Amino acid sequence: MRKQLVLGNWKMNGALAFNARLIEDLMQGIADGDSGCEVGVCVPFIYVAQVGEALGGSTVRLGVQDISAHTEGAYTGEISAKMASEFGVSFALVGHSERRIYHHESAEIVGVKALRCLEAGITPVVCVGETLDEREMNETNHVVERQLTAVLDCLGVEDATRIVIAYEPVWAIGTGRSASAGQAQETHAFLRQVLDTRSSSLSDVPVLYGGSVKSSSAADLLRQSDVDGGLVGGASLHAGELAAIVAAMPRRTSQAR
Ligand code: 13P
Repeated sequence: MRKQLVLGNWKMNGALAFNARLIEDLMQGIADGDSGCEVGVCVPFIYVAQVGEALGGSTVRLGVQDISAHTEGAYTGEISAKMASEFGVSFALVGHSERRIYHHESAEIVGVKALRCLEAGITPVVCVGETLDEREMNETNHVVERQLTAVLDCLGVEDATRIVIAYEPVWAIGTGRSASAGQAQETHAFLRQVLDTRSSSLSDVPVLYGGSVKSSSAADLLRQSDVDGGLVGGASLHAGELAAIVAAMPRRTSQAR
C-alpha cells in the first residue's frame, strides 16, 4: 500500500520565535487530528537544529528543501546529505521548481541529488511540474516524464523504490490557483504509468500534489485515487491550516489499493 504523506515547505520563511510557536501548535494540532498519514516540515537549513530539537520525539518528521549534489569538499555554501542526516533529517526536496528556475538546476543534477539523499538514508522528494506555457502547449506529460525519467536513470530500480514524487505545476505555486482535482488526478495517473513502465516494483512510490493546497481545497484533491498526499507551501506556515489538511487526508484501507 502506498504511504500517505503531507509535507510542509516553509521556503525562505521563519524566525526563531515564530518557528518555536509554529512547531508547538503543529504538534498539538496533529496529535488532536491524526489521520494516519505521515507528516513532515521542510525547513531552511539554518533552522534544522532548532526544529529538530523542538520536534523531539514527535511523529512529525524533519525535512530540508534542497541538498548538495556533492558529498564533501570545496563547495562553498553547500550542505551535504550526510551532514543533514546527522541532524535527523528524514526528507529532502530535490528539483523544486524554484531551484530549477532560479538556480538553473538541470534534470540530471536533480537525479544526482536524489542519489546523494538515498546514500545518506534521506528520502528524496522529487519535484516535477510544468509551466503555464507548457500546459497550454499540451506538453505537461512530456515535461514531467522527462523530469522523472532523468531521476530514474540516475537510480537503480531498488533505490527508486525509496523515493517520493511531488507533482507541482509551476502555475499553481504561490498563485492561489490550485490545479483542479481532475487535472491533478490526470497527471498523477500519468506519473504512475511512467513508474509502472520502468518497473512493477515502483508501484508503492507515493506521488504528492503541491501548488496552492489549502484546507479548503485539500479534501477534493486528496481524495483522488492517485494523489497520495500534499506538499504544502504558504499554508504550512499556519499550524491550524496544515493540521486541517492532514485531517482532510482520507484513510486508505489495504483493500482499497
Ligand atoms: P504554495 O502551497 O505556497 O503554492 O507552494 C507550493 C510549493 O511550492 C510547495 O513546495
